Amino acid sequence: MKTCRTEGELRKILGVESGVASIGFVPTMGALHVGHLSLVRAARIENDVVVLSIFVNPLQFGPAEDFSAYPRDEERDLGLAEAEGVDIAFLPSVDEMYPPDRSTTVSVSGISDVLEGKSRPGHFDGVCTVVAKLLNQVGAERAYFGQKDAQQVAVVRRMVRDLSIPTEIVVCPIVREEDGLAMSSRNAYLGAEDRAAATNLFKSLKAGEAVLVAGGRPGEAEAAMREVLEKAPAVHVDYAAAVDPETFDEPLPGAPVLLAVAARVGPARLIDNLLVEAKRRT
Ligand code: PAJ
Repeated sequence: MKTCRTEGELRKILGVESGVASIGFVPTMGALHVGHLSLVRAARIENDVVVLSIFVNPLQFGPAEDFSAYPRDEERDLGLAEAEGVDIAFLPSVDEMYPPDRSTTVSVSGISDVLEGKSRPGHFDGVCTVVAKLLNQVGAERAYFGQKDAQQVAVVRRMVRDLSIPTEIVVCPIVREEDGLAMSSRNAYLGAEDRAAATNLFKSLKAGEAVLVAGGRPGEAEAAMREVLEKAPAVHVDYAAAVDPETFDEPLPGAPVLLAVAARVGPARLIDNLLVEAKRRT
C-alpha cells in the first residue's frame, strides 16, 4: 500500500497505477470500523485499484460539534486499510485541502435542509465541498458510500448528477453490531450504560417498520419510533421521521419509505435508518 498526503503525490501515483485500470474510491474520516471496511471490500471486488481517503473534514462540523475530539488513529487505520487490500491511502492535511483563500462552497439545496441538515446547519455544504473535491482529485470510476448516512447518499447523488461528476456512486448496506446498533466511529464515545441505551435507535426503527408493514401511515410509524426513543433512559430524540428515500419529502402512497432517527445518547449524537420497501407496506 502506498501512502500520500498531497494532491500532487496522489496524481503521480495514480498516473502510474491506473493507465486503463478502474479506480474504486472510499472516502472516510478514519477511526475505521467494519462498516468502513465493508466499503473497501466492495471496492476491492469491483475495481483494479482501490483508493481510501482519511480526512476529518472541518467544514462539515458545526462550531459546537466534535471536530477536535473526533477519534483519530492513523497507524491503526493504515494497518486495517492495508490488510483489506487498499492500494493507495490518501491522508491530506487541512491546509492541503483548503487554501487560506478558499472561496468555493458546493451546496445542494432543498434535500440538504431537512433532518440532518436542519439539525446541523452547514453540514451538507461541508460534505458536498469535500466530496466534490475528493472525487475530482481521485477521478474514480466508482465511489463507495454507506447507507448508514442515508441523507448524505441522497445529497451526494444529487450533487454528482447536477454537476456531471463522472463517478458512479455505489451504496453499501449498513453494518450493525450483533444487537442491532449501527457501527459508527462515534460509538467509541459510549460508556457501558449509554452503549446499552443506544440499541434503542434500531429498536425504534423496527417499531416504525412494524407499523408500516401492518398498513399504518408514515405519521403513525413516526409516532411509534418516537415513543420507543422517548421511553428509553439517557436517549434524547432529535428526530424520528418517515420520508421518501430519494427526495426526503413526505413519502408517496405505496412507495418505499425511509425511516430515519437521530438521538443524543450520553456524549454521542447517533443516527440510524431503515428502508421499508413498497412491497412490505400493505
Ligand atoms: P465517515 O463517517 O468516516 O464514513 C465514511 C463512509 O463509511 C460513509 O459513506 C459512511 O456512510 C460509511 N459508514 C459508516 N458507518 C457505516 C456502517 N455501519 N455501515 C456501512 N457503512 C458505514 O461519512 C463520512 O465519513 C464523511 O461525511 C465523508 C463522506 C468522508 C466526507 O467527509
